[in-house]
Amino acid sequence: MAGPTALVSALREELATVLGLMPDEQQQVFGGRTFWRGHLHGHDVVAVLSGIGKVAAATTATALIERFGVQRIVFTGVAGGLAPGVRVGDVVVARQFLQHDMDASPIFPRHEVPGYGRSTFDADAALTDQLVRASDMVLKDLPALLGDEVMRTFDLQSPRCHLGLLLSGDRFVSTTAESAALREDLPTALAVEMEGAAFAQVCHDYGVPLAVVRTISDRADDAAHVDFPRFLHEVASRYSGAIVEALLRG
Ligand code: ADE
Repeated sequence: MAGPTALVSALREELATVLGLMPDEQQQVFGGRTFWRGHLHGHDVVAVLSGIGKVAAATTATALIERFGVQRIVFTGVAGGLAPGVRVGDVVVARQFLQHDMDASPIFPRHEVPGYGRSTFDADAALTDQLVRASDMVLKDLPALLGDEVMRTFDLQSPRCHLGLLLSGDRFVSTTAESAALREDLPTALAVEMEGAAFAQVCHDYGVPLAVVRTISDRADDAAHVDFPRFLHEVASRYSGAIVEALLRG
């Protein structure tokens, strides 16, 4: 493989386990971001925190491609569940991405990205298949990863892996009214976060394969602001680390 694999999360808690798995990493600071160059299970990797939101995500993706010549990007993190069966502790792997706050109407149809003639961008099919397999493996053995107490605390019962449409926007969705509106406008959406679709647009521009996996930390409802930080601190990093390990082990 030509360039390194990029491993990206928005937040430190989400990337912590991955960084712990890289024994020889070297830090490089560029564009206000720290990039960790090293190896993970024999793969040449570069890990980075994208920061939160679409602009931070787009600049991070561009730096990874232009500066580090990454040949594929894997994004792991958390998201708010939208579709009825997408529960806290489930995993969503993106097949497609859409910016739910993109609206240049009436000049362009709502959600269409001007200049592209489309509202959705695709994840890389082969890398996404691998990520689904890695996620399934981790979910099968979740009690061993998290322990019974965490399983009970977060009421994690047989968590599932879902594949489909992931929404991104520059808003933490934390009211039941807003998540209901998103469900009504975009009924096939599985979950909502703040970076994936920006990565997808940049990766589309450069022809770089992208796959995104998100653990559901909250239901993007009135309780989201309570559920999200708890899940982030106690669980999210373990999911991300285990899924990335399973992916790179192959
Ligand atoms: N990431 C995790 N939960 C989220 C939410 N409810 N809205 C946006 N991004 C999120």
